[in-house]
Amino acid sequence: MQIWDIDQLRADTAGCEQTIFFNNAGASLQPRPVVARVVEHLRLEEKVGGYEAADMVADELADVYASVARLLHCAPEEIALQESATRAWDAAFYSFQFGPGDRIVTAASEYASNYIAFLQVAQRTGVEICVVESDSDGQVDIEAMRKLLDDCVKLIALTHVPTNGGLVQPAAEVGRLAREANIPFLLDACQSAGQIDLDVDALCCDMLSATGRKYLRGPRGTRFLYVRKSMLQRLLPPVLDLRAADWVAADRFEMRPDAKRFESWESSAALRLGMRAAIEYALALGLSNIEQRVQSLAALLRERLSAISGVTVHDQGRIRSGIVTFTFEPYSVQEIMRRLKEKHVAVRTTDRFAARIDLERRGLNELVRASVHYYNTEAEIDRFCTILPTLWT
Ligand SMILES: Cc1ncc(COP(=O)(O)O)c(C=O)c1O
Repeated sequence: MQIWDIDQLRADTAGCEQTIFFNNAGASLQPRPVVARVVEHLRLEEKVGGYEAADMVADELADVYASVARLLHCAPEEIALQESATRAWDAAFYSFQFGPGDRIVTAASEYASNYIAFLQVAQRTGVEICVVESDSDGQVDIEAMRKLLDDCVKLIALTHVPTNGGLVQPAAEVGRLAREANIPFLLDACQSAGQIDLDVDALCCDMLSATGRKYLRGPRGTRFLYVRKSMLQRLLPPVLDLRAADWVAADRFEMRPDAKRFESWESSAALRLGMRAAIEYALALGLSNIEQRVQSLAALLRERLSAISGVTVHDQGRIRSGIVTFTFEPYSVQEIMRRLKEKHVAVRTTDRFAARIDLERRGLNELVRASVHYYNTEAEIDRFCTILPTLWT
């Protein structure tokens, strides 16, 4: 199927029949083949039992690692699969041993859960958190970051595409700085996976976490972590179980040699197979095609919104993602979302709890977030921008 065959892509997307669905940054609509794969496996589990069903699709389950590796351009041994949300990022972050005098360097748009983890570890260990200034485009100031990097910096952590706006951080430039300074680089690609072509070598990142449910269009409860082979020996996973390590003698364990040392034993085979189907779907369309279409639809939405009296679009960055944020004076963002829902339009709101440092620095509290994907259309954008000004009439 071609990315440009929008009718076919929409026919594959049951959820877009009734709704203008602009919440792809929350949890995107799953294509039919993804849902079908999950349901088929659940039916198999119903008939033969969960362990027995997993045995029957063992090769396909092993191939999930290969699919993620193809998406990120890395080796399957560098992938760990996770079920619980932020835990993939946590597995990498909490593997570092920080102490007083050490520093973590990050950017203003860092995601809330990541920053809360920095604060917790700072309280425990005395590590200092340094937030690099943003430049006039709102992205992390590369020169300011360069000046901060010295032997005390033990980690650079960056959110590639923040949850609260259209910014795409210059992750590859940050990665090159990290590489030159020999500092580990942890990239949160939760919002970029599935809408941007990710290559861990081009990004120079050592660890990357992402979710299946957002722009990859996979099921909820699916996540993965990439850890560069050369980093594996330097990280001590914060939690180990019999998946992550072997109990080789009564008083001794050995960690797995690959990234599976960051996994835990129990998992949902159905969801993993669904995520694999979603990744294969995206790969078949081509990530650079997806990237191009998402960015051009989002640019059109920003242009149309800006023409509406009372609307301010708040997105920053030299390159902008599929996430479009705006306010519409004098209305509250919650009320805008509620009234749009009545008109069968799905958007979301975002606030300081999601990315406090960025929104505080910009003097913003709450925004409406309308996030588009490739299966959305120009006609939906037109309709959205026609409905919005009429919500209070
Ligand atoms: C940038 C970013 N990182 C991490 C997360 C957390 O993902 P999860 O809810 O799967 O833990 C989100 C979720 O919105 C996000 O936008």
